[in-house]
Amino acid sequence: MRRIVLPAEPLRDGPTALRPWRDGDIPSLVTACRDPEIAHWTLAPERYEESDARAYMLQRMDATHAGVAAPFAIVAARDDRVLLGSVSLLRLDWTHLRGEVGYWLAREARGQGHATRAVSLICAWGARELGLERIVLLVATGNAPSQRVAERCGFDREALLRSYMRGREGRHDMICFGWPARA
Ligand SMILES: CC(C)(COP(=O)(O)OP(=O)(O)OC[C@H]1O[C@@H](n2cnc3c(N)ncnc32)[C@H](O)[C@@H]1OP(=O)(O)O)[C@@H](O)C(=O)NCCC(=O)NCCS
Repeated sequence: MRRIVLPAEPLRDGPTALRPWRDGDIPSLVTACRDPEIAHWTLAPERYEESDARAYMLQRMDATHAGVAAPFAIVAARDDRVLLGSVSLLRLDWTHLRGEVGYWLAREARGQGHATRAVSLICAWGARELGLERIVLLVATGNAPSQRVAERCGFDREALLRSYMRGREGRHDMICFGWPARA
C-alpha cells in the first residue's frame, strides 16, 4: 500500500482546477447528483440526499487513507468554491502500478471541455506523483459523450467487456479504454 497525499495546491489547466473535496462542497454535490444522467451512468442514488453526499465524502476519504483512491473535486479555476464535477483515480493497484479513472460533471458544466481537462490533469498527476504506468477508463457502449472524453484525452479503445456493469435498466456492455496509448 502507498500513502496518497493529495496536492496542497490545485492542479490547473485554463478554467479548470482539481482540488481535494471539502465539507463545504456538500450542497453543490447534492444538487449536481440529482441529475438523472449521473444516476443513470454511475449508479449514484436516484433521489440523492445530503446523507448520500456525506457517505460519498467519507467513503472517498477512507479509500484515500487506504491507498486505493485519489478523489478530486473539479472546480472553477477562477473561484474554487464553484463545484463543476468529480474526477478520481480508483482501484489503485500498487503491484501492477495501475488504476482506473472515473468522473462526472454537473449538468451546467458540460460542453466546455472541463471533463477532458480534468481527466488529462489527473492522469498526468497519477503518472508523475503516484508512479502509475497504466490507467483504464470504462465507459458504457451507450455513453457517447464519455467515450469522446476518453478519446480527446488520448486513451486507446482497447476492448469490449460484455455485460460488465450493473445499470438501472439492466447490465451495460462497457468499452475499456487504456492510457497511455500503445506506441
Ligand atoms: C461524461 C461527461 C463528463 C462528458 O461531459 P462533456 O461536457 O461532454 O465533456 P467535456 O467537459 O470534456 O466537454 C466536451 C464537449 O465540450 C466541447 N468543448 C468546448 N470547448 C472545449 C474545449 N476547450 N476542450 C474540449 N472540449 C470542448 C467539446 O466539443 C465537447 O462537445 P462534443 O462532445 O459535443 O463534441 C458528462 O456527460 C457527464 O457527466 N455525464 C454523466 C456521468 C457520466 O456519464 N460519467 C462518465 C461515466 S464513464
